[in-house]
Amino acid sequence: MAKITKLDDIVSLCKRRGFIFQSSEIYGGLASCYDYGPLGVELKNNVKKAWWKSVVQMRDDVVGIDCSILMHPMVWKSSGHADKFADLIAECKKCNTRTRVDHLQENAAEQTDEHTEHIAIDAAMSQAQDLNNKVCPACGTVGQFTEPMPFKLMFETKMGANIDDSMTIQLRPETAQGIFANFRNVLDTTRVKIPFGIAQIGKSFRNEVTTKAFIFRTREFEQAELEFFCEPGTDEGWFEHWKQARFNWYINLGMKKENLRFREHDPDELAHYAKGCVDVEYKFPFGSGDWQELEGIANRTDYDLRQHQRGIRTLNKWYENNRDLSKIQLADEAGDYNKGPLSYFDETKKVRYIPYVIEPSAGIDRSALAYLVDAYDEEEVRGETRNLLRFHPALAPVKAAIFPLVKKEGMPEVALNIYNELKKYFNCFYDEKGAVGRRYRRQDEAGTPFCVTVDGQTLEDNTVTVRDRDSMEQVRLPTDKILTYLREKLDL
Ligand code: GAP
Repeated sequence: MAKITKLDDIVSLCKRRGFIFQSSEIYGGLASCYDYGPLGVELKNNVKKAWWKSVVQMRDDVVGIDCSILMHPMVWKSSGHADKFADLIAECKKCNTRTRVDHLQENAAEQTDEHTEHIAIDAAMSQAQDLNNKVCPACGTVGQFTEPMPFKLMFETKMGANIDDSMTIQLRPETAQGIFANFRNVLDTTRVKIPFGIAQIGKSFRNEVTTKAFIFRTREFEQAELEFFCEPGTDEGWFEHWKQARFNWYINLGMKKENLRFREHDPDELAHYAKGCVDVEYKFPFGSGDWQELEGIANRTDYDLRQHQRGIRTLNKWYENNRDLSKIQLADEAGDYNKGPLSYFDETKKVRYIPYVIEPSAGIDRSALAYLVDAYDEEEVRGETRNLLRFHPALAPVKAAIFPLVKKEGMPEVALNIYNELKKYFNCFYDEKGAVGRRYRRQDEAGTPFCVTVDGQTLEDNTVTVRDRDSMEQVRLPTDKILTYLREKLDL
């Protein structure tokens, strides 16, 4: 019977093998912040590379960008984040713990619906009608909550040393807005024509009320977002296109199909600007319903570009009001924005419009966690438990480990020569310490697809053994064939 993976097993392996550590651990740790160790950073980089390859490199209609985390405060006024990016929370009168209203349970036995990221504040309001039967998750008290109140999720900091021009700015809560703010720059400096997309991977920050489950929901995290601009009327077709493309990305990187599904958003969950939204969900080994959001794919209509057109027209008011965002109102919604700088002129059809946007938005850390969970396996081999990560080769932190069978008779020299040659092409690891069986086990646990061993026979006929992580089968190969063999198997 297949073993059920527990999150604790993953956390323990991540710590033991240097994938992921608690941030500032030497000082007792900082809640919900994590550091990627030597194996973890390779895994995370590989997830990013695989996303970039599929969304940018392999397509002719997507270009990349890398925007700064700190942006002009008006960006967040226009996008709606400054006023609306908040969770509705209630505080337990007994223990003072604050909980998201949409995460409160009716009674201890009921399952909490924690797959939602941030539901629209208006939708949360309607869920907050009756907290009389809700249970405090910290102390178990029933129905003793304060009135629900909005809790802003954006982190703030100060910029500038001079009193006159220093100001409060926010750390971005999504990478998307940097893309919208650069729409005109990309149009003017490249040959892109609609339909086309702009993609970005980068850090985002949210002062989450409920952090949870290791790196699943943290306050600092990395997103991979694509804003795909298309002509209004073609948006539903592109929505379907990206839905399938993104689902297939997970499958093609080895994720088990039975652990993935789509979840359409209910109408009351949709952000007010979204015409449609579907989540790709993964069956994580925690939480109430198991199924949790990996990525959202939304039809954002022309909302963002239109809002920024309004924002640009409002900029002077920002200065007039001493840069106080709360005192200004965006320019009239009904204004004529089709002709603004964020509109698009179709040379062939001779029409100008504000493009619609399809946005697949994935979490890099969350994907890395899902790939870790999905790859994790334990099996009995000759009376011993073998822990292994069955990573797709593209994701494996180390592609091949090279061992001399023993640390004598010239074997280390031959193994080092092989290692020095192979590492020019992909990540390799050299290890000569301890029994070879234990070295194999260590590599299984790190998810290394192949181990190359130099033994007594190598010194006679120049052949080595190459061991496959999953089947544990070994083949014998001439040393000059190792690189071709591995590159073919690893698809590198
Ligand atoms: N631009 C749209 C947007 O940001 P989102 O659903 O809020 O949408 C997209 O976030 C993805 O980013 C989520 O599906 C998730 O993978 C990741 N994400 C969001 N908040 C996160 C957090 N606090 N920790 C880790 N990943 C997060």
